[in-house]
Amino acid sequence: MELSLFSLCFLFSIPFISHATVPPSSTFKYVNEGDFGEYISEYLPDYRPLSIGTSPFQLIFYNTTPNEYTLALRMGTVRSESTMRWVWEANRGNPVRENATLTFGADGNLVLADADGRVAWQTNTANKAVVGLKLLSNGNLVLHDSKGNFIWQSFDSPTDTLLVGQSLRVGGVTRLVSRASEKRNSDGAYTLVMEPKRLAMYYKSPNSPKPYIYYAFDSIYKDRLQNATLTCTPNSYDDAANDLNLELSNRNQMILARPKYNSTLSFLRIGIDGSLKIYTYNNKVDYQSWEVTYTLFSRDDFPEGECQLPERCGKFGLCEDSQCVGHLVAHCRVDSSAGASSVSLRSHQPVAPRIFTTIN
Ligand SMILES: *[C@@H]1O[C@H](CO)[C@@H](O)[C@H](O)[C@H]1NC(C)=O
Ligand SMILES: *[C@@H]1O[C@H](CO)[C@@H](O)[C@H](O)[C@H]1NC(C)=O
Ligand SMILES: *[C@@H]1O[C@H](CO)[C@@H](O)[C@H](O)[C@H]1NC(C)=O
Repeated sequence: MELSLFSLCFLFSIPFISHATVPPSSTFKYVNEGDFGEYISEYLPDYRPLSIGTSPFQLIFYNTTPNEYTLALRMGTVRSESTMRWVWEANRGNPVRENATLTFGADGNLVLADADGRVAWQTNTANKAVVGLKLLSNGNLVLHDSKGNFIWQSFDSPTDTLLVGQSLRVGGVTRLVSRASEKRNSDGAYTLVMEPKRLAMYYKSPNSPKPYIYYAFDSIYKDRLQNATLTCTPNSYDDAANDLNLELSNRNQMILARPKYNSTLSFLRIGIDGSLKIYTYNNKVDYQSWEVTYTLFSRDDFPEGECQLPERCGKFGLCEDSQCVGHLVAHCRVDSSAGASSVSLRSHQPVAPRIFTTIN
């Protein structure tokens, strides 16, 4: 068989093209074993820090139910003596056990495998010219090529949290999904979804076949949206203040909060209860470094009241002015002719959500 010069070159060029590999000094294998960390973290877990960190972010194995570990990024410093919070998770709902491994091989793939070798999660970046891994100071974990381009980034797969600089994109991973409960780290009932026309919040009750919208940020423009990004920009009138915005791709911008300090270290989160809040970390402060700087559904009804949370008062509770006012109301009827009074109980219907849109 005869090979043309062209195909010979081609054959030789294949190993050359894929030659870029991770240098041995940058590869690693961590085993989930050993002592637990002792500082307070959200959901009160057991945890083991890996030596991959860029203050105030660190990569960690943690569990809230014994022997069910999640690989996650935590935000906050020990020095601050404040709760440290989980801002990204690799394997929510698919935990690994003691002796699981996180491996960054020469081929550039980052793989989380359980103790028995089962692959629980990976970046699927083998032989894609990855030469290194970095945890950036904004909390983005990236795998990059020799030119510094990101081949994979954690910012593309948000869990329930959007850090400053991170986007939801139509067509990519378009949603934040709430956590099931403090103990149970799996997908919960609430999602924040980026749609071509709006950002919408959905609730899926266990008994209903379809989720419904309980809140929507409608764009005032009619054009198709592509993304929404959490940004932090200096306020133009007040030197001390920053604006925390949700910026839509059509330049429509919502200012959500205006803290009076550098608030670059903030994130937007859809909560276990369907709430939407921004948490801001002030790294100049050594005690109580966190502040909730934005709350969509708030007790004082601004910008919206807590009664819009689907389960604010349980499944059938009645909510008024952000308060639960019970679900059974006693009515006292005095029958004067009989000279006796009787009490009847009337059941209230569950509160109807304001918007009744469903998705297919
Ligand atoms: C983890 O691996 C070590 C070393 O192989 C072994 O001694 C230990 O028993 C394992 N731990 C568990 C919980 O299986
Ligand atoms: C968002 O969409 C706009 C408009 O298409 C685009 O220019 C911009 O790069 C996108 N931003 C991100 C972070 O994807
Ligand atoms: C704000 O804080 C961030 C994160 O700590 C830092 O990178 C940035 O330089 C600060 N900006 C200003 C204007 O000080």
